[in-house]
Amino acid sequence: MRAIYSALRDRFAEIRGRSVALRAGLSDEDCAAQAMPEASPVKWHLAHTTWFFESLVLEPHCEGYQQFDPTYRMLWNSYYQSVGRPFPRAQRGVLTRPAMAEVLRWREQVDHVLLDWLGTENVPPEARVMIDVGLQHEQQHQELMLTDVMSLMSMNPLRPAALSPLPGARVPRSLQWIQIDGGLARIGHAGLGFAFDNECPSHQVWLEDFRMSSSLVTNREYLDFIERGGYQNPQLWLAEGWDWVEAGRREHPLYWDHNGGHWKEFSLHGMQALRPEAPVCHVSYYEADAYARWRGARLPTEQEWEHAARTQHDNFDDLFGECWQWTSSAYTPYPGFRPMTGAAGEYNGKFMIGQQVLRGSSAFSAPGYARVTYRNFFHPDACWQRTGIRLAGFRQLPRPPASPGQANQ
Ligand SMILES: [Fe+2]
Repeated sequence: MRAIYSALRDRFAEIRGRSVALRAGLSDEDCAAQAMPEASPVKWHLAHTTWFFESLVLEPHCEGYQQFDPTYRMLWNSYYQSVGRPFPRAQRGVLTRPAMAEVLRWREQVDHVLLDWLGTENVPPEARVMIDVGLQHEQQHQELMLTDVMSLMSMNPLRPAALSPLPGARVPRSLQWIQIDGGLARIGHAGLGFAFDNECPSHQVWLEDFRMSSSLVTNREYLDFIERGGYQNPQLWLAEGWDWVEAGRREHPLYWDHNGGHWKEFSLHGMQALRPEAPVCHVSYYEADAYARWRGARLPTEQEWEHAARTQHDNFDDLFGECWQWTSSAYTPYPGFRPMTGAAGEYNGKFMIGQQVLRGSSAFSAPGYARVTYRNFFHPDACWQRTGIRLAGFRQLPRPPASPGQANQ
């Protein structure tokens, strides 16, 4: 038991430390601002992840634990109605008090108590489970810290570089179509290792034979879609997608810019020339779907994506580590889905409405976080996350877009 908890202590210290390290280079002002209702301030992320350990681990399971500040239970609650009424999401940017220093002090206290506690034999198994959930939760928020800071910086006309550079240039590879045999396939988490409730239970699905592209769609390929009138052709778009294009007067992905006659893209290290061979990123589901239709292809279902990743992993580039990949699957419960017990039951299941599943992981995902069964989910119009496009198809090889609009699914 001691050895298990020793490993957990090390992991706890490492993951909690990484969250604080991510704010290096950011000012307290950077950390307090909120760019839009969907994106939260860095200070809020640092506080909310601490709230998780205090409210869902220490208070219910650690005898004698004293809250740091009783008002924090409401202030840093995201959406757990069973814990109390949360502070409104869209107003997180007004929380200039408590100050960042206070939030960091709270983090230190909670970490200190939890690490001491893990050194004893008084940690019940159900608390250990919740610590595991809390660490996965913290890693999710680490990715959100990066995407939310990027959203914030993109709205500043100075287009500042926020953090250290991303990994180096990607080596371009030509797209291949990988043939996957259909039949009965097993999907979802089984066995040892952590998984969220929404990845369970493992179950069988029937798949037709299908093809999936070896590479993610690149900026160069997506630029071709733009230059051939992709954003001006309503026949390519879902009805909701076309409304979204028209309402937002959209002509390119979220962080692209064409002022001055050259395509540029904003990133965490500022505005830079568009890299043609990098995967197109920060596209909505609507854009991914329209692009696939223009290519005479479609998006994979999440079951196809998982089966392909399990059976032919080595034939694909960037299944993990570049962009989350939109799937055509609605975010719904697996057969036999059972939410986690207690407040953690609010973690995933109640969001199974109106969202699409994304698979893989991104360059912003925490180290070691990716797994083949992981189900990310966002509304179809979301594009401030690192979301990209992998194509799929059924029968014939989709052809290059000589005449846009031809469907060959
Ligand atoms: Fe959260």
